[in-house]
Amino acid sequence: MRLTPLILAVCIAALGLYGCTNAPGRPAPGDIPIVPSEISDFNTLYAQNCSGCHGSEGKGGAAIPLSDPVYLAIADDEVLHRAATNGIPGTSMPAFAQSAGGMLTDKQVDVIVRGIRERWSKTDVLRDANPPPYSSSEPGDASRGSNAYSAYCSSCHGTEGRGGQKAGSIVNGSFLALLDDQELRTMVIVGRPELGAPDWRGDIPGKPMSAQDVSDVVAWLSSQRPKFPGQPYSDTAKSTGEVR
Ligand code: HEC
Ligand code: HEC
Repeated sequence: MRLTPLILAVCIAALGLYGCTNAPGRPAPGDIPIVPSEISDFNTLYAQNCSGCHGSEGKGGAAIPLSDPVYLAIADDEVLHRAATNGIPGTSMPAFAQSAGGMLTDKQVDVIVRGIRERWSKTDVLRDANPPPYSSSEPGDASRGSNAYSAYCSSCHGTEGRGGQKAGSIVNGSFLALLDDQELRTMVIVGRPELGAPDWRGDIPGKPMSAQDVSDVVAWLSSQRPKFPGQPYSDTAKSTGEVR
């Protein structure tokens, strides 16, 4: 067959088209990066912003597991929203909302809060149980808390909270300095199930802690938080070099 100029032209045009769509270096549709503020997928937002501390799948991190359904039953959306938006001052929980100096839009914070709730909460997890409230406006009493500690906690955390056979110290100054009182309260109420720490019902089986017990134990722990964490020398030890 003779190549007519027309066929030749069609061939060249086809080659040209082919060459353009497959030119080396030309980005495929999936290669074009999404602008960070446009990401709206929960998995991506959670993995990029939260999993480093709260663990992938919401557990197994250094900070409390956000996937614990007992936690999600006592902490409402307002709690999640406030923490993610503004962070928790004085702790390593960062502020994420752009309005508070973070990188996420309000919409993205909403996606994260909704995703945590939809993925990990369980409606019937508490059944008839009546947990102490997430937060308390009544301050606890540290000396009553010392008694509550002996009753509910010392079997595992040892005398005075310095650690026992079943669990470590919870009065270590560096530990207490990392968390605020609300976080201590959260842990006393919901436990750390993944580490074997019981919730408010399980310290003494059959005898749940009352809301007052919880506030008092938290006050007792809080009273032992060092004023100047990370500084081994007391104010009076400057000249003698005494280490407390
Ligand atoms: C049945 C044993 C048991 C009882 C009772 C118990 N805990 Fe724990 N608790 C644990 C275990 C296990 C952990 C996981 C960390 C560890 O091994 O030290 C833990 C962790 C904690 C943590 C977090 C420590 C950390 O390193 O993150 C706090 C705070 C805490 N418990 C407070 C209390 C308080 C307050 C009480 C009493 C109201 C109490 N616990 C009762 C076993 C117990
Ligand atoms: C750099 C580590 C870090 C990152 C990243 C982080 N958190 Fe936290 N988060 C913490 C710590 C530590 C606390 C406990 C602070 C305290 O003492 O109250 C906390 C507390 C929280 C609380 C409150 C817990 C309570 O007791 O009610 C929520 C909710 C929370 N984080 C959600 C998130 C979400 C959502 C993200 C991602 C957008 C995130 N965090 C990312 C470290 C982190």
